[in-house]
Amino acid sequence: MCGIVGYVGKRQASGICLDGLKRLEYRGYDSAGISVLTEDGQLNSLKTVGKLSILCEALQQKPLSGALGIGHTRWATHGRPSQENSHPHISGNSRIAVVHNGIIENYQELREGLIRDGVKFASQTDSETMAHLVQKHYDGDLREAVCRAVRELHGAFAFGVICADSPGQLVAVRRFSPLVVGIGEGENFIASDMGAIRKETDKVYVIDDNEVASLTAEGVELTGLDGAAIEREVFVIPWPAEAAEKGGHKHFMHKEIHEQPDTIRACLTGRVASPDRPIMLDGLGLSEDEIRNMRRVVFTACGTAYHAGMTGRFLMEKLARIPSEVDLAAELRDRDPMVLDHTLCVVISQSGETADTLAALRSMKEKGAKILAVLNVVDSSIARESDGVIYIQAGPEIGVASTKCYTSQTLTLTMLALYFSQVRGTLTEDELRSYRQELLRLPESAKVLLAREDAIREVALKHYERTDALYLARGVNVPSAMEGALKMKEISYIHAEGYSAGEMKHGPIALIEPKCFTVAIAIAGEVYEKMIGNIMEIKARSGPMIVVATDGDARIPDAGVDPHAESDDFSAQPNDMVWVPPMPEMLSPILLGIPLQLLSYHTADLRGKDIDQPRNLAKTVTVE
Ligand code: M6R
Repeated sequence: MCGIVGYVGKRQASGICLDGLKRLEYRGYDSAGISVLTEDGQLNSLKTVGKLSILCEALQQKPLSGALGIGHTRWATHGRPSQENSHPHISGNSRIAVVHNGIIENYQELREGLIRDGVKFASQTDSETMAHLVQKHYDGDLREAVCRAVRELHGAFAFGVICADSPGQLVAVRRFSPLVVGIGEGENFIASDMGAIRKETDKVYVIDDNEVASLTAEGVELTGLDGAAIEREVFVIPWPAEAAEKGGHKHFMHKEIHEQPDTIRACLTGRVASPDRPIMLDGLGLSEDEIRNMRRVVFTACGTAYHAGMTGRFLMEKLARIPSEVDLAAELRDRDPMVLDHTLCVVISQSGETADTLAALRSMKEKGAKILAVLNVVDSSIARESDGVIYIQAGPEIGVASTKCYTSQTLTLTMLALYFSQVRGTLTEDELRSYRQELLRLPESAKVLLAREDAIREVALKHYERTDALYLARGVNVPSAMEGALKMKEISYIHAEGYSAGEMKHGPIALIEPKCFTVAIAIAGEVYEKMIGNIMEIKARSGPMIVVATDGDARIPDAGVDPHAESDDFSAQPNDMVWVPPMPEMLSPILLGIPLQLLSYHTADLRGKDIDQPRNLAKTVTVE
């Protein structure tokens, strides 16, 4: 996830781009850069590694002058954060500058072809490919050159492109990565989100996949890749400029919850291309023989990442048939685990800096395990000490409560289990095809879940004043229950516990009373009947009940309802419902975080809590 901006008009482009980038810094802060076309046709660029403030200082020393420009703030995916990997990327003839957000899946192949044609690459990025491709196709029409280049690309992208030979023109295009065009008077803008340009205008075109925008100071032309004109209604941004940083959302957590269709897609990109093609996972640091000979997998992490690890453990054993276990990182070292040959330790961390996770990694490495890290932040301490790394590609997560990263960690670990199954032959080709098909549907299912937010807020309204909560599930969704409870307690401060529903009768059931609500996950699947039994047990003890169930389930709303009980007794009341679309049980932990995050979010909001910075917590915990 990166941020892109662009400007064409009469004012100084660099200042406007810089201002837009400040509002996009939440999308990445590994490096930043701006390219501007001067009045005498020179393409000048300035790029710096690190936060945007460093670029601001550099621009004060060396201002860039010109009324056409593009800017970028980077979240590294291909190539470490460095000067040469920073955007904008420049074509070999130094006439074209490109900013990119997304991942070009087939960049290796394209890069090799361009190198054979004599092109010299200056960076390790996938993005630079686009600058050279546009040069290759440019014959005086920048829009057409961009369209031809894009037709060669697979993957997800939003590009902004300027060319010294097409002064006064900015071309932008998208596929799967967000892009808006801001409409001004005598000037126009592009950006990854509306917040970046809200200060300049409240009128935008929201660009769709495979649409191209050609901007001049005077106007904006929208076309398809085939050049056919597109009519688009102007969207008027309904929120004020002050709300820009959070893109109109009240909290970063809310914004990040809503980014999940995009972050899920980014995580799948380059890994699951179609139901008929095998899953590809780069960077594992393991040969296929090593995967075949693997005898044990140990997952370890803290907090939310540990819950993702629990799902990883479940699926690795169930699908890839490798004995697996999961440990809290803070406990792993102290139990002095025995590490046999052919043991893989999978460490999971958003930040890559969590002290307990790093210590667990070091101890497992010392004992001879191979280390595979599942991380969000590139170039972290954990990345440097691991044998292999898979990045979840979720972009910066600012809210202290992890949301989109949990979903992407769970998705990545699911893909890992499926990839191991592919290599070890533990699933049939039909089963694998069906999983790949379902994985590709996840971004759309995430959208469906988010569209049900109002109904979830209604449920929160009924229960937000209670003091305790129990989250129950069975099988593959026990981690979902634990994560739901963690989210609830960390932002709303309601005391919440996540349990296997099977354990309930061994203690937690004593908590059931009107001030304690239960959230039961009872979607269609293997453990459904048993979950109904648990719901009935809680209803019989007058516990308020919220059930996460599959659309169309007619049994659950009244499960356990006693028509003879007093009307103010919870036994007499139908269950409050959180409906979710049908989904394969084994993939459901990837999606079920979303409604549970929304339930916690609205509960905390109704209780008036400081959602992005809950008390006593820090985003990155670098002490043991
Ligand atoms: O950066 P990490 O993923 O290693 O952080 C681990 C935990 O500190 C983190 O998941 C924490 O539990 C979250 N605040 C939960 O929302």
